[in-house]
Amino acid sequence: MTVRLAARLARLAPYVFGEIGRRVAERRAAGADVVDLAMSDPDVAPAPAAVAALADALGEPGFHRYPPLAGDPGLRAAVAAWYARRFGVRIDPEREVLITPGSKEVLAHLALAFVDPGDAVLVPDPGYPAYRMPGDLFGARTVFVPLRPENGFLPDLEEVRRIGSGARLWYVNYPNNPTGRVAPPEALAAWLAFCRAAGVVLVSDLAYADIVYEGRAHSVFEWPEARGVALETLTLSKGARLQGLRVAAVVGAPELVAAVARVEGNINAGVFRPLQRAAATALAAPDPAVDDVWRPRRDRVCEGLRAAGYEVVRPDAAVYCWVAAPGGDGDRFFERALAAGVAVTPGSAFGPGSRAWVRIAFTQPLDRLEQALARLAPLAQP
Ligand SMILES: Cc1ncc(COP(=O)(O)O)c(C=O)c1O
Repeated sequence: MTVRLAARLARLAPYVFGEIGRRVAERRAAGADVVDLAMSDPDVAPAPAAVAALADALGEPGFHRYPPLAGDPGLRAAVAAWYARRFGVRIDPEREVLITPGSKEVLAHLALAFVDPGDAVLVPDPGYPAYRMPGDLFGARTVFVPLRPENGFLPDLEEVRRIGSGARLWYVNYPNNPTGRVAPPEALAAWLAFCRAAGVVLVSDLAYADIVYEGRAHSVFEWPEARGVALETLTLSKGARLQGLRVAAVVGAPELVAAVARVEGNINAGVFRPLQRAAATALAAPDPAVDDVWRPRRDRVCEGLRAAGYEVVRPDAAVYCWVAAPGGDGDRFFERALAAGVAVTPGSAFGPGSRAWVRIAFTQPLDRLEQALARLAPLAQP
């Protein structure tokens, strides 16, 4: 008898960045040069001190053993210190921090602690694909919250009230992937008030908090009323550029973190301790990459695309530009760009309402970005 695939697999598309990677590899195998500006995969090396901490920790007796499930005390303390320094917020490293193997998996898994089959989950469109996993894998109901340019790519709270009745979880992500927007403090306060009143868990994804050019990132825990209703994720994958190491943290009130830890402890087995040592070192040190690397790239890519005739959202944060696809079809533009030697991400990767856009990352050195700009310039006309 042949094996049968679970029905849920029919609802689960192959991971979009895996597919794009496959297409890029195919082109390269055929001899083409491709500048890969699709995935948000920082090319710049991490801080040497973080790499040295990793190497040192490998020499320590017992490094191979199972790590504490909640995370190394040193990294949990470093996360709390980061919150104090960045936001003036006090976090209890013992009870309010859980270390996880990257944030992608826990952004999906945490829903298992709060959402039952059939429950609604509010997901931004455009938004990071992992937010759709509760709907695609766990039987929840994805309710897309449109982020419209005319609203500064912020959710319209009146609309959320209208479409979100009965929701149990709401993902928000500022600084935002893919639009590069930073949310004003009054927006966070309003979302929290809604979530408190409606009994919705607000999950604030802080992935890009350390790569901000204009304005500043906010933690929801700057508002005391966030305790008990919100969780925040931060990752070492973007600002610290330790994405291959897979280290992140979930932060929130003890009862919410304990609920997530119960799920994680039954699925994962903690994070390799030397990686946590590197992460703690990286979190402790200020990093010059925002001004030395990312800002000049952002300025050049925005200017180059605009000069060619593209409509570009200049990002206040993160490592990509959100660009209106010429002709209004991001999937078609993806194909045209790939044929010309540049991989971008079609807006459809970020939600059904985002098909008219593409995301162009500046995660390559400036000379490669110049090549990409030259290849993209003739494609600005549909
Ligand atoms: C908004 C956002 N959240 C979370 C992640 C996941 O990062 P990681 O799993 O490496 O922690 C990403 C990665 O691209 C992201 O863009």
